[in-house]
Amino acid sequence: MQGQLITTMSKTNLVTSKVDSLITSILASSKIPRPGIINIEPVSNLCQLKCPLCPTGVQLLDYPPKIMSLEIFKAILDKVPFISLLELYRSGEPFLNPDLFAMIRLAYDRNIEVVVSSHFSFSKPDDFFEDIATSGLEKLFVSLDGASQETYSHYRVGGDYDLVMANIKKLIEAKKRLNRTKPEIIWQFLVNKFNEHEITSAQKIAKDLNIALDIRPIDLDDELPDVTLGQTIEERMTDWLPANESYIAERYRGERHFPLFPGVCKDLFTRIIVTVDGKVMPCCMVWDHGNVFGDLLADSFDDIWYSRKYLDARSRFLIEDYRPQIQSICFSCNNFGSAPSLRYKLNLLLVVFRKSLSLRVKKCLAKLVAR
Ligand SMILES: C[S@@+](CC[C@H](N)C(=O)[O-])C[C@H]1O[C@@H](n2cnc3c(N)ncnc32)[C@H](O)[C@@H]1O
Ligand code: SF4
Ligand code: SF4
Repeated sequence: MQGQLITTMSKTNLVTSKVDSLITSILASSKIPRPGIINIEPVSNLCQLKCPLCPTGVQLLDYPPKIMSLEIFKAILDKVPFISLLELYRSGEPFLNPDLFAMIRLAYDRNIEVVVSSHFSFSKPDDFFEDIATSGLEKLFVSLDGASQETYSHYRVGGDYDLVMANIKKLIEAKKRLNRTKPEIIWQFLVNKFNEHEITSAQKIAKDLNIALDIRPIDLDDELPDVTLGQTIEERMTDWLPANESYIAERYRGERHFPLFPGVCKDLFTRIIVTVDGKVMPCCMVWDHGNVFGDLLADSFDDIWYSRKYLDARSRFLIEDYRPQIQSICFSCNNFGSAPSLRYKLNLLLVVFRKSLSLRVKKCLAKLVAR
């Protein structure tokens, strides 16, 4: 009886290990599909505000401010016809690019959903808000961390709470006037120790305005693998974290631990990040231009996505003690650990193949209906 149990257990282990190595070999190879999400920075290292934990805000980046041209934007978009979602913001204030509306329109005309995040703390004429309402923009995140100037300005240094509120109202009015439902306006509220007592007020204001409120825990830059801030993480935790644990990111609760996040680094498998110059970064957390993974203006998308550098970086998270042929920032990044459990790998496989799976299901359903 015991012998039978041991045989059954070892058979199960054998099957599990075969499934594991099959999934690993798919995820670590050029069999994975192209991603559906792209993040493009329309401006780089350029902003009117000075948010203390933003590398742009505290001028930590050693490259000059830059604005992306419409030509470069178009050249990038031409290389990624399979993309369905564009995040059009990264290291700076996107509305500082005078071609932003043209960029949104270009993507919209190609059936790409566009999302922008802005501090929205600037004076603009009425037609600016009408331009937003008619641009084709799907979602606009407005970074407004507080429900009064006093609390808001602790993080958004140089920002004007009343101006941001007035701008949100102008956009709501412009949408009504032009009978538009888009863009969805999302008030993004990063919780810190100065504004946590205003969450209820923010919820009420957001409800009265009929806009969404996205209450998020603040990140303290320990997740940025190539940025060094003046302060220690302990000092930043003391300076910024709220008292209410439920508004604190999991990694700042209890003992400090590495890796910082559970599971696999999904960014390497599901999205691509493109700088103002068309260079490819492995994720939004990497800022040093020395850590690029490719150049989308010089090479084809596939040459980059399936390059040795990408394959090595992905393998680092799937295979224990993986030895790369080409080193990259991902090998010194403490955000994720190696060789995750089969559960995480299965989940990643589903995420990576979701789009092609749903297309197949749709085709099958269409065939069935046609019969
Ligand atoms: C670098 S900003 C660029 C876009 C724009 N300037 C803005 O602030 O919305 C990109 C995103 O990072 C968010 N962000 C800035 N500092 C953050 C922090 N310490 N923790 C989490 N998100 C942060 C911003 O709110 C914004 O949604
Ligand atoms: S507004 Fe955005 S880009 Fe500007 S400093 Fe703050 S987080 Fe950085
Ligand atoms: S492993 Fe680290 S550096 Fe590499 S893509 Fe993931 S988070 Fe970014």
